[in-house]
Amino acid sequence: MKLGVLKELTPGEQRVAIVPASAAALRKSGWEVLVEQGAGEAAGFTDADYQAAGATVVAGRGEIFEADWIACVRYGASCSGAWGESFLRPGQVLVGLCDPLVHPEGLRAVVARGASAFALELIPRITRAQPMDVLSSMATVAGYRAVLLAAVQLPRFFPMLMTAAGTIRAAKVFVIGAGVAGLQAIATAKRLGAIVSAYDVRPAVREQVESLGARFVAAPVVPAAEDKSGYAKELEAEVLAAERKLLAEIVAESDVVITTAAVPGKPAPKLITADMVERMPRGAVIVDVVADRGGNCELTRPGETYVHGGVTILGPLNLPSQVPYHASQMFSRNMVAFLEHVRKVAVREGRLDVTSDDQIVRETLVVGEGRVLHPAVEAALAKTAPAPAEPQKV
Ligand code: NAI
Repeated sequence: MKLGVLKELTPGEQRVAIVPASAAALRKSGWEVLVEQGAGEAAGFTDADYQAAGATVVAGRGEIFEADWIACVRYGASCSGAWGESFLRPGQVLVGLCDPLVHPEGLRAVVARGASAFALELIPRITRAQPMDVLSSMATVAGYRAVLLAAVQLPRFFPMLMTAAGTIRAAKVFVIGAGVAGLQAIATAKRLGAIVSAYDVRPAVREQVESLGARFVAAPVVPAAEDKSGYAKELEAEVLAAERKLLAEIVAESDVVITTAAVPGKPAPKLITADMVERMPRGAVIVDVVADRGGNCELTRPGETYVHGGVTILGPLNLPSQVPYHASQMFSRNMVAFLEHVRKVAVREGRLDVTSDDQIVRETLVVGEGRVLHPAVEAALAKTAPAPAEPQKV
């Protein structure tokens, strides 16, 4: 089977979907790998590295689409202009991230051209899918990077220091949302010597937070804060208000707040109000890891760094891309595990069987041969339906 690896077109995107080591692994298991010229450059992988790994480097976008399988980090609405939709054809399969529940618009082209598309965001959180779990990999990178950004921005040290010039107290870091990104943020802040507290609406994470040496702040009583896949559920307004009240005290005494709270397919819950920011010490820093979903802080400006009453609020939009080498390496390993799995369970004579009953295939295959197969994606697409054309005046 032939796999084409795209150069990313989303502005600022530095990752690549397949790194040379993975290209070599795919070659070994029988794939032919085409890589668009310069695809790995921003992540630190040269065309020569790919050639040495047995891949063929091709110059044009059109040539890449000769492959039946197309791998990319992101396709669809986040890419600027044309990302290759005009080259799509029946029998072709796209694999990557496409924000299918929030910005599924890009999938319309896949439908129109009769192609198929996998959305890696929808990989189920089950044990056998762990090696393919790109969301966990990218959240790990984001949590790490968020703490480094905060440390650079903060006008204070993170660790306690005892020097001839006096004793310096450690910074207080508060992490909101202790999923994959939050846990990595806790671990990174601890390694830098900060005093760390963390909060999550799911009580099940207490043990994980405490095992990293951080203090767990318990939620006000939240009935069934978790759905059956282990994700948080959206909270009722009064529960959210109780939550904000609890957070206000801790936020007010924190030097750094890292926010990572998210509910899949929904805007991020607004947990930090302007009033709470105004009570923080001057020089404090908030890094809103979920700025791309609107942010947990009501003052976050997605994509910007903004100072409010002496508190700096960062709203970075693509943290994993800021550590492109390792983010690509992790993404690529997940991608290979995914491709090999799909090949094993749902490819017959080189063609994808879009009717496969395998759970991982079923939950990630959003478009199969031009048909939207995923009910939640279908609903999201209906919400973003293009406005009907104005009737022509005669
Ligand atoms: P996420 O990115 O969807 O959310 C991040 C965190 O925000 C979650 O811990 C969530 O509980 C929290 N949150 C949501 N609303 C909140 C609120 N109002 N206040 C405070 N916190 C709030 O989650 P992520 O990191 O993708 O992980 C989701 C779950 O899946 C976790 O239980 C994680 O351990 C689990 N998981 C399981 C895997 C597996 O078994 N294969 C792999 C990876 C994660």
